[in-house]
Amino acid sequence: MKTVTLSTLKALKRAGEPFSCLTAYDATFARTAGDAGIEVLLVGDSLGMVLQGHASTLPVTLDEICYHTRSVARGKGASLLMVDLPFMSNASTECLLRDAGELMRAGAELVKVEGEAWMADGIRELTRRGVPVCAHLGLTPQSVYQLGGYKVQGREAEQATRILEDARALVEAGASVILLECVPASLGRAVSEALEVPVIGIGAGPDTDGQILVMHDVLGITHGRTPRFVKNFMTEADDIPGAFHRYHEDVKARRFPAQEHCF
Ligand code: KIV
Repeated sequence: MKTVTLSTLKALKRAGEPFSCLTAYDATFARTAGDAGIEVLLVGDSLGMVLQGHASTLPVTLDEICYHTRSVARGKGASLLMVDLPFMSNASTECLLRDAGELMRAGAELVKVEGEAWMADGIRELTRRGVPVCAHLGLTPQSVYQLGGYKVQGREAEQATRILEDARALVEAGASVILLECVPASLGRAVSEALEVPVIGIGAGPDTDGQILVMHDVLGITHGRTPRFVKNFMTEADDIPGAFHRYHEDVKARRFPAQEHCF
């Protein structure tokens, strides 16, 4: 695979070719995912749940994310490396700039931040300084206690319109990528069609430009309730590289997500 950049993702979007994304937390899994052709790796703050055993992503610190970013950066090969800003990095613009700087120094090539249209100023300041941003909308896990759980967002027309408007405002402010989590497939399609930048979906239907899953879910080692949008690719593969390859191929062929994975 040729080195994946933001331009690659934009070109894939223009060509109507979906791309695959997967979380990674260490060098070996990053290399295995890259070898399977996965275009984007995310050092997600989901590490707080799948690696550390917390009930949410909130306890994860900047130092912990930097540690995993450095490991993934060493193994990632040609994939683009996106990294999560942890809970409360968006507390102020100063905080956002400082934390994003640390992530970029650790090896991030794109930083992901949760928040709505009010994040526009922060995103403008980041992009002004050369930090590419992915804005995470829909179900934003860092707000789980305010949302009252991991629930589908944008089911009501008014809320769906707000998510679409927020996405437009954040792209206008400079966001290079939008990530939509747990929204109806119709909204995933509407946002992807409305924007020129790539839209990555998780539980957002088959029509977003890219798809992302948490690595542990792809490997069928999810503990607790399995979300509807998850698929265990180990059932169709002989080994872990095979499961990553199958996930990538199914995204490319638009076989994943299927109807049963959508809201
Ligand atoms: O932290 C994470 O893994 C994420 C994905 C669920 C998109 O944000």
